[in-house]
Amino acid sequence: MAKAKTIYFCQECGHESAKWLGQCPGCRQWNTFVEEPVAQKKSMSPQKLLQDASPVVLSDITLQREERFASGFPELDRVLGGGIVPASLVLVGGDPGIGKSTLLLQVCQKLSAQRIMVLYISGEESLQQIKIRAQRIGQFTDSLSLLCETNLEVIDAVLRRGKPQVVVIDSIQTMYSENISSSPGSVSQVREATGAFMQLAKGLGITIFLVGHVTKEGVVAGPRVLEHMVDTVLYFEGDRHASYRILRGVKNRFGSTNEIGVFEMREQGLAEVENPSEFMLSGKPKDASGSVVACSIEGTRPILLEVQALVCRSSFGIPRRTAAGTDTNRVNLLMAVLEKRLNLRLSECDAYVNIAGGIKMNEPALDLGIVLAIISSYKERCIDEKTICFGEVGLSGEVRAVSLAKQRILEARKLGFTTCILPKVSLDANMQTEGITLIGVENVQQAVRRIL
Ligand code: TYD
Ligand code: MG
Repeated sequence: MAKAKTIYFCQECGHESAKWLGQCPGCRQWNTFVEEPVAQKKSMSPQKLLQDASPVVLSDITLQREERFASGFPELDRVLGGGIVPASLVLVGGDPGIGKSTLLLQVCQKLSAQRIMVLYISGEESLQQIKIRAQRIGQFTDSLSLLCETNLEVIDAVLRRGKPQVVVIDSIQTMYSENISSSPGSVSQVREATGAFMQLAKGLGITIFLVGHVTKEGVVAGPRVLEHMVDTVLYFEGDRHASYRILRGVKNRFGSTNEIGVFEMREQGLAEVENPSEFMLSGKPKDASGSVVACSIEGTRPILLEVQALVCRSSFGIPRRTAAGTDTNRVNLLMAVLEKRLNLRLSECDAYVNIAGGIKMNEPALDLGIVLAIISSYKERCIDEKTICFGEVGLSGEVRAVSLAKQRILEARKLGFTTCILPKVSLDANMQTEGITLIGVENVQQAVRRIL
């Protein structure tokens, strides 16, 4: 008997290999390869393919205006690029327990309130469990239906018969096709299921939201395997112990990426946070050294956040450096700049830098905030709490221009800040500066002289 053909897949990134490998050459993870049977593909005759394929010129293509519809969550609409696109496939990824099912059930609630036919297909929870969750969230109308199913062929038939406008699949890792012998959650199954949902979305004009769990262990295939297959990838992230959650656009065929939506997990489900800056700054300590407010742009939106630093004498030969919420290498680099240009003896100190609230930000405009927080802690001097700063810091200690300075200043003014330290080159004579003093600085020394 002929041996069944198998192939090895990396469960993290989907890398294929004919033999088992200890370390994946694609994503460098260890022990992620599993053996899976090769999916049988139906081959089509080249003649048939030729008949179907006929190239067209660009000018012959007529554009249909995409008609988006609102999800009822303006924060989600913003991340999607202005609303839900009909016939699109959206992947919502995130750690288990972060609130993906809650978010999508709430989207279903808002859509059903607009009388849009919605179908929520769960492969993880029973109808009773969904009902309990729904009761916490609030009222639902009858245009939402629920189904507990994991078999792709059955779901295919249900969708073709019912033709809902929006479908939620919770989660893609539980779906399986009978044509493939490997278990649900394996790379082949996840790929097959995503491909099938893509065809259903495009063929029937249904918008499909897929939930995908991200796992480090590689027990179930991470959604990274299917990022390239779907139209839009959103990540729902946040600290499980903190109440806020961030929805981040990573890929979007219909709009810009890097937009974020901010939510707060409450007793009755998720609530939108309309003013994230206020939210992020709500716990800021008064008169504490090592704390400064900086401004970062996420997508098109400025967000003010608190940068904290703690610098203390190191008791070991090698100082410890830790950064939470920002890049450790960047912090190391900035500390080297301070050591060299400002003659601070930081090599004798441990340093811990934290973006308060557990949010992750890597914009270069935060540099000035990080630098000032470190100096403030080193010198044990407080920075005025009504001061905000932004600017990129270069290797010579120079403060470089950043984009969208005006938006940042407006956001700071809106929240009652009275002083803003910014790169001198970003100062513009036409800027509205009532109520806020703008201090343009060329280098870190000048910034320190002005506020510390
Ligand atoms: P869930 O949506 O089940 O997460 P996921 O689908 O991403 O795995 O969210 C689970 C968490 O959310 C759970 O720990 C409890 C919390 N939660 C609330 O705090 N309030 C609520 O109203 C709901 C429904 C959940
Ligand atoms: Mg869930």
